[in-house]
Amino acid sequence: MIDTACALSIAGLMKSYDGTAAIDSIDLEVRAGELLTLLGPSGSGKTTLLMSIAGFAQPDAGRIQLDGRDITRLPPHRRNIGVVFQQYALFPHLSIADNVAYPLKVRRVPKAQRDAAVKAALRLVQLESEALRRPEQLSGGQQQRVALARALVFKPPVLLMDEPLGALDRKLRAEMQLEIRGIQKSLGITTVYVTHDQEEALAISDRIAIVHRGRIEQIDTPEKIYSRPASSFVADFIGDSNLFAGTLETAADGTTRFHSVAGITFPVRLGPQVDHAAAPMALVRPESVRVSPVATHDCPHRGSVKQVVYMGSTLHLQIATESGSVVLAKANPRFFDDIPGSHQDIWFGWRVDDPVLVRASGPSTAASSAASSVTSSAASPASSPASSPASSATSPIRSSP
Ligand SMILES: Nc1ncnc2c1ncn2[C@@H]1O[C@H](COP(=O)(O)OP(=O)(O)OP(=O)(O)O)[C@@H](O)[C@H]1O
Ligand SMILES: [Mg+2]
Repeated sequence: MIDTACALSIAGLMKSYDGTAAIDSIDLEVRAGELLTLLGPSGSGKTTLLMSIAGFAQPDAGRIQLDGRDITRLPPHRRNIGVVFQQYALFPHLSIADNVAYPLKVRRVPKAQRDAAVKAALRLVQLESEALRRPEQLSGGQQQRVALARALVFKPPVLLMDEPLGALDRKLRAEMQLEIRGIQKSLGITTVYVTHDQEEALAISDRIAIVHRGRIEQIDTPEKIYSRPASSFVADFIGDSNLFAGTLETAADGTTRFHSVAGITFPVRLGPQVDHAAAPMALVRPESVRVSPVATHDCPHRGSVKQVVYMGSTLHLQIATESGSVVLAKANPRFFDDIPGSHQDIWFGWRVDDPVLVRASGPSTAASSAASSVTSSAASPASSPASSPASSATSPIRSSP
């Protein structure tokens, strides 16, 4: 349906409102045919960036190019970009077919051609049978599919979507994510998608750009963003995290240990990507945390169960460490003969390849993490496995593999 997918290139983009930067020098290359998601907290500048691309917001500085053509100063209708907003913004008095036909009417496309294009667009979103109904007669998900058909009917080279599923319930959102991704792939249309739902971003994107205070903090594949976050902000924003502030110490034999201010010391592997001078933090994902009723090689740290939340497919354990910080573990409940109870002693740890060293983004993000929120330098060092109490061997918890 789309004739040619276009690459979108943004350089040095700036936009301020009342002296405050909503976009603070953004450079971004969106590849032809990819679905790139802008993900970030409320107020980080996602909508402002999208509206600048669409032409509804005028940047103060910078350049936007569509396949090499400068569109920075073009009015929205001359950019020919398809846009879908969170609120479907359908015309209530028009039929579904007339809503979808609207962009073609504005472009003075002849009726026969228009009818064929509307039919094809409605077929694409599986709403051909609803053509003569009015928006109010459709469900929220159906209305958003109409909005998508309307955005695609004039074969735009680029599609922009701003929280298109924000108004839908969780189950419908999951269905629509797959549907949107399927349509986007089948058309091969270059798409910039805005959400603040991290699972949605991970599920549908070719690449994710993490937006923070008007800047792009990291742009990468979903897998890399999750497993190799560049900063503590990204690590904390995507998924749950145990983030430890601390210092690195490399021994004469070349092995490196991380001394966390939370009192836990553990070996780490140094990657080439980390600037070790820039206050490192160590990230351990909760699913990497292993627990055991007794001290083991992988579980050398002693703690006590602070809270247990059974989530069906996972068990979330908050473990209070000996120094008073909290480590979150997510485990498969099937690895436990009995679900551990509060205040029960537990041993925990992770493998040497699990911690990821990340750049510290600043105190605001560090404070939001459980593990890093306790910064007492007087915290006691981790217990050695040899101090394991014999009685805990009878605990109902099995070591997680
Ligand atoms: N029209 C406007 N007038 C004044 N300030 C604005 C305007 N639009 C956005 N801003 C400000 O610019 C910043 C970025 O807003 P933006 O709407 O781009 O954020 P967002 O990332 O889309 O947030 P959300 O996830 O809540 O939609 C915010 O501080 C916001 O208050
Ligand atoms: Mg927004």
